[in-house]
Amino acid sequence: MDELQAAMQQFSSAPVETGGQDAPGGKDPQDARGLLRFVTCGSVDDGKSTLIGHMLYDAKLIFADQAQALELESAAGLAGEGGLDYSLLLDGLAAEREQGITIDVAYRYFSTERRSFIVADCPGHEEYTRNMAVGASNCDLAVILVDVSRGLLPQTYRHVRICALVGIRHFVFAVNKMDLVGYDEEAFTQVERYIAEVMREYQVASYTCIPVSATEGDNITVASQRMPWYQGPALLPCLEQADVAVDLGEQGFTLPVQRVCRPNSTFRGFEGTVATGRIVVGEAVRILPSGTSSIVERLLVAGADASEAHAGQAITVVLADEVDVSRGCVIERESAAEASSFFSATLLWMGDAALTAGKNYLFKLGTQTVPGMVYEISYRVDATTGEHALAKRIEKNEICACKISLGQKVVYQDFAANRTLGSMILVDRITNETAAAGVIEHKLNRSDNLTYHAMDITRELREQALGQRACTLWFTGLSGSDKSTLANEVEKHLHALGCHTMLLDGDNVRLGLNRNLGFTEPDRIENIRRVSEVAKLMNDAGLIVLASFISPFVRDRRAAAEVIGANSFVEVYVSTPLEACEQRDVKGLYAKARAGEIANFTGVTSPYEVPEHPAITVDTSSETLESAVERIVTLVVGN
Ligand code: ADX
Repeated sequence: MDELQAAMQQFSSAPVETGGQDAPGGKDPQDARGLLRFVTCGSVDDGKSTLIGHMLYDAKLIFADQAQALELESAAGLAGEGGLDYSLLLDGLAAEREQGITIDVAYRYFSTERRSFIVADCPGHEEYTRNMAVGASNCDLAVILVDVSRGLLPQTYRHVRICALVGIRHFVFAVNKMDLVGYDEEAFTQVERYIAEVMREYQVASYTCIPVSATEGDNITVASQRMPWYQGPALLPCLEQADVAVDLGEQGFTLPVQRVCRPNSTFRGFEGTVATGRIVVGEAVRILPSGTSSIVERLLVAGADASEAHAGQAITVVLADEVDVSRGCVIERESAAEASSFFSATLLWMGDAALTAGKNYLFKLGTQTVPGMVYEISYRVDATTGEHALAKRIEKNEICACKISLGQKVVYQDFAANRTLGSMILVDRITNETAAAGVIEHKLNRSDNLTYHAMDITRELREQALGQRACTLWFTGLSGSDKSTLANEVEKHLHALGCHTMLLDGDNVRLGLNRNLGFTEPDRIENIRRVSEVAKLMNDAGLIVLASFISPFVRDRRAAAEVIGANSFVEVYVSTPLEACEQRDVKGLYAKARAGEIANFTGVTSPYEVPEHPAITVDTSSETLESAVERIVTLVVGN
């Protein structure tokens, strides 16, 4: 599991990594009401480290030894002018980063009389977009640094967009370097107006602009005498008072079930962190996706009986009835949570490999993990301007709107109403890395009006009628590897044995059903997807299917196995080496590909990924056809 997946899992449930520091104050970091998690966004030039460093110093929030070291190092001339260089406090974190201790995001814990804080310090530069998303995904509020002398920069727009995308709804703009503009009210108001313009685009719960000077300490911990025209709070009091529990449009209680707890035969509780709302013992609840109802009989908060529980708390619920609840279910009351498998979504792409339509991923949403795909890229969103542009590929650090189809229904709620059930991450099924973080905009209606009907004549009955067990032999290998010859020969043998079969061949299917598809990656994905569905239908009809397709990508063959069913999918790897295929070049395609007349030709200008665990491997350059056919037929029908 990589860092974002971990961050998403621990989202809204303390404790959080504290960057290796002990709590300097006395407050319990697990006190969800007292704790504020915030992220700081801005580049070094904006004075981010100086700002936070100054806040910690002024509020006496740093350790005595750190204060002393700061004074010593500053006195040694590192700060210049004999002043204190507050950024040294946080640059310690940069050093940690260099040493590889805190690789992505540094978390620092501190506490005042009134509140505990965790600040996620992440680099602001574009190449660190992923780090910022990781840091921000775990926070309730963002402090965005703006240099008043430079105004809003492209990166300011990008920081706001990414923070909003991963679910931050409270923003504080620290309009810094007021000393450089002579504490001029008009300069601040001008920037404030631009910020208002930007924020109009987002559905945020609150945003505040504060004129500050990080180096001079104006409006950091106490109101500055030099800006009497500013009536609002200084930064620290603002953070102390920020009410992030009051959220946007959240209503109703939702609890994504993380674990079913069954220590003995008499107790059965459902554990999870309350995503939204509150619940009281005796109230009626619904379990989704099943829709069954029950009553809350008992609640445990931190292991002790409680009469009620609210958002952010890790709880155990005991229900009055014996209902079917498992990990991934959602217990809800009066919320708008529902189940669907088609969504429109906005994604921040983080994968090294670009996103193209049709690719298959694992989607993690709340405590649910399901396979699915991005079946259409609607448009790319410019992170700076917000402009939309048509796109077929989405590269790392880009944002896009897209349509998603999941393999099964998940319980969700629109992101605007429920951060936990409205956001998701996409995990690459092969590398297991987080490929994207995103939010559900709304469900697409087409799933609502469709219901799977279980018919009376089942696959088993059809298999019985035909006297065989259906399966799909999936032949994969390079063009010219003799897949089709082999599949044809196997089918002849099976037919002679009285089996009912059907052969699906790449070239043939592409001349009919798939005549609108070419050989780009998205087209190949769609080719294999359609063929998998056809093979499954034919298996359901009781037939033994022989599918012969180059199917060069591991991901697509895995997806095919999923559609067809792991028990019915038999992978036959025709491993004939490229040199042998190219030497034969029966259709003359390799020659054309080498001459540049065919684009994306497998083995020449497009990759072939070797199967990981094929049921059978056949190299037709070293094994006779008879021997290979016999091995395959034996596997299908036994001896
Ligand atoms: S797949 O990659 O999408 O699985 P499929 O098996 O359907 O390919 O089709 C492969 C056949 O299309 C090859 O046997 C070859 O005759 C033909 N073909 C034409 N262009 C290409 C290409 N660029 N790459 C591979 N095969 C091609």
